[in-house]
Amino acid sequence: MTDPLQSEERLNRFLARAGVASRREADRLIQDGRVTVNGAAVHEPGARVRPEADAIKVDGKRIARIPPPVYILLNKPRGVVSTMEDPQGRPSVGDLLKAIPGKPVPAGRLDYDTEGLLFCTNDGEMVNRLLHPRYHVRKVYHAKVKGIPESQALARIAAGVVLDGRKTQPAQVSFLKMGQRNVWLKVILYEGRKHQIKRMLATYGITVIKLVRVALGPLSLGHLPAGAWRKLRPDELARLQKYLAELDKARRPFHNRPKKAMTRGRAAR
Ligand code: URA
Repeated sequence: MTDPLQSEERLNRFLARAGVASRREADRLIQDGRVTVNGAAVHEPGARVRPEADAIKVDGKRIARIPPPVYILLNKPRGVVSTMEDPQGRPSVGDLLKAIPGKPVPAGRLDYDTEGLLFCTNDGEMVNRLLHPRYHVRKVYHAKVKGIPESQALARIAAGVVLDGRKTQPAQVSFLKMGQRNVWLKVILYEGRKHQIKRMLATYGITVIKLVRVALGPLSLGHLPAGAWRKLRPDELARLQKYLAELDKARRPFHNRPKKAMTRGRAAR
């Protein structure tokens, strides 16, 4: 078995995982000489460190050891706040996660009355990436709405509506299941503003009765019962990491991309 004290990791990744900064901000902290390992300044972001054994400090402050990463898929039920605790004493995601070692926290929010997929982890870097507005992580919702909306209204909502003085990003809104008096819609968003779906639909007088998030990036809720959680399978974690790495590449300025990508870009011209 490998000795955890000897297990190594790149310094910038460790700082990002510890939630100190994003990977790129960590690179800057290191290059600026603000990070020391066992008392010596290290200027190389990719330097290998042993987080369990080395004293790693930023601006003289020791970064606490972080537990091994844990990646959880939770089906948040209705009537639960998606924070770790609630000042008003309502049931919280913290109550549902408390038995899990490693202190995972939710990456993002769902409304109190929304249910569905909430990804939770103690990997600070992954949380940053999932929540960063420039990553445009895909989120799929099923929304039960009152009455039968006009297709034209749905097309306009998908094209973008103004909320708080700012147009929403293009989305996808389609019919999923028709009932006599209600309809289920499928809504795909690439951003995450407060009560976004309810407010987008409300601009055309459409009221949401029930809202369920069924997918986030490559992760799907599947048949996980409300209130239950499970660890991501290794293949799911690998797909999520690949998905985020691809979004990262897509948003990186051309001059900042790794050499291989630049060569491909030049050859294509
Ligand atoms: N849109 C909403 O209106 N609520 C949610 O919880 C998520 C998306």
